Amino acid sequence: MHHTFSDMTFCIRTFGCQMNKHDSERIAGMLEGLGALQVETSEEADMVVFMTCCVREAADVRLMGQVASLKNLPLREGAAIGRRIIAVGGCIGQRDGEKLTRELPHLDVVFGTHNLGSLPKLMERAIGGEGHQIEVLDSAETFPTDLPTAREHSWAAWLPITIGCNNFCSYCIVPYVRGREKSRSLEDVVAEAKAYVDAGVKEITLLGQNVNSYGRDLYGAPRFDDLLDAIDGTGIARLRFATSHPKDLTDGVIERFGTLRSLMPALHLPVQSGSDRILEAMNRRYTRDHYLELIAKLRKACPDIALSSDIIVGFPGETEKDFEDTYRLVEEVGYNQVFTFIYSKREGTPAASIEDSTPREVIQERFDRLVDLVQDKAWQSNQSDKGKTVEVLVEGASKRDSGILAGKSPKNQTVHAKVSAGQSAEDLAGSFVNVRVDEAKTWYLAGTVVDADEGARGSDGC
Ligand code: SAH
Ligand code: SF4
Ligand code: F3S
Repeated sequence: MHHTFSDMTFCIRTFGCQMNKHDSERIAGMLEGLGALQVETSEEADMVVFMTCCVREAADVRLMGQVASLKNLPLREGAAIGRRIIAVGGCIGQRDGEKLTRELPHLDVVFGTHNLGSLPKLMERAIGGEGHQIEVLDSAETFPTDLPTAREHSWAAWLPITIGCNNFCSYCIVPYVRGREKSRSLEDVVAEAKAYVDAGVKEITLLGQNVNSYGRDLYGAPRFDDLLDAIDGTGIARLRFATSHPKDLTDGVIERFGTLRSLMPALHLPVQSGSDRILEAMNRRYTRDHYLELIAKLRKACPDIALSSDIIVGFPGETEKDFEDTYRLVEEVGYNQVFTFIYSKREGTPAASIEDSTPREVIQERFDRLVDLVQDKAWQSNQSDKGKTVEVLVEGASKRDSGILAGKSPKNQTVHAKVSAGQSAEDLAGSFVNVRVDEAKTWYLAGTVVDADEGARGSDGC
């Protein structure tokens, strides 16, 4: 192995979705493999890598400020090289390429979403004084999963099964910055899952912009439900996946929420809008009725399933009536969680050319109304778990109190519980404990650790 970066430190600032977070783990894996040491802050770092997101405007603006602020940041004591190397990758790197070095001349490296593997080479050239290093490719050479990975937690792994997206929802920039959908072979995915199980990983989350269309481009067209079966067969304790597109969620996948041992009873199924007119303008290719039918089937297969969603408020041309359709859908479904976004115009997408005269205040008022409802519904859904005992995968100590452990229930709720005398929350990270839920709040459950034989298994609900 080379030791190109020995004595050097790096930090990665990650924005955006899990795909980016996972790419950051691959970058960390590569740089560590070349001898560099990962640190937490830019102050301590010889190399700073930004993994960027451009799904909404706010993220763009933030990046500029953050990169600019590094300009005058003093080097760490004992810095390995005479200046700090700054790289921008991810979705803004892909979208803007060379333009970024014009706006931010002190940037050293720009790379895109298709060539993570080139980063060390580009860094090396920048360190060697060869000037701006810009490399953005139109499509992927290899799956980034061929690269090593340094995972954030030893007990949890993200496992990309597809990259890219073919859906072209009319508001969304992702297909332009992540390229066309490509599936990894079933054998590769299962082999990686097996290796994680052997390494003691407790939870695998399959990743893709639309995992439900997995396999269509592969020889023999394995389906997503085949893949779920195969991964369940590796013996993984907990299996999750994100994201699902309602138009492609099949009965086979729905059934597995009731039958597969490892598949956790939680599904993120973004609806985006409850109005058929807006869904059509968004190019989502399903109706409100179809979506509600899916929800009914899911609840039949797994009565206690936790549902979450993404919703965009203020899509161009959204009327009060359209918004009310969305509001009523949220009331009806009773989500555990909804991520709400105000529509953000993205240049180059079809929706960017739709005229809209809805005043900003009207959109904000709708957004606030929806957020209130989402909170009420989240609180309500959690009430049904009061008094139950749930199995919690511990993540560590809660932020506020080192004597309180924090982890996730099967339904992916955050759970807090006081650790027993003589135990430390940090030491329990990555293990399962049973918690009796004493209190159900809007965004977490609080309870007491109980013995394993108090019947936590029944809490899976399905
Ligand atoms: N592939 C996933 C995630 C896409 S990005 C999916 O299809 O669900 C995550 C969320 O960002 C989307 O679900 C959508 O709600 C939101 N989003 C995407 N583009 C947006 C835009 N232009 N303005 C506001 N929200 C947007
Ligand atoms: Fe964007 Fe739609 Fe693809 Fe999701 S499915 S990434 S919202 S285009
Ligand atoms: Fe953002 Fe790129 Fe993900 S735009 S949401 S980081 S795919």
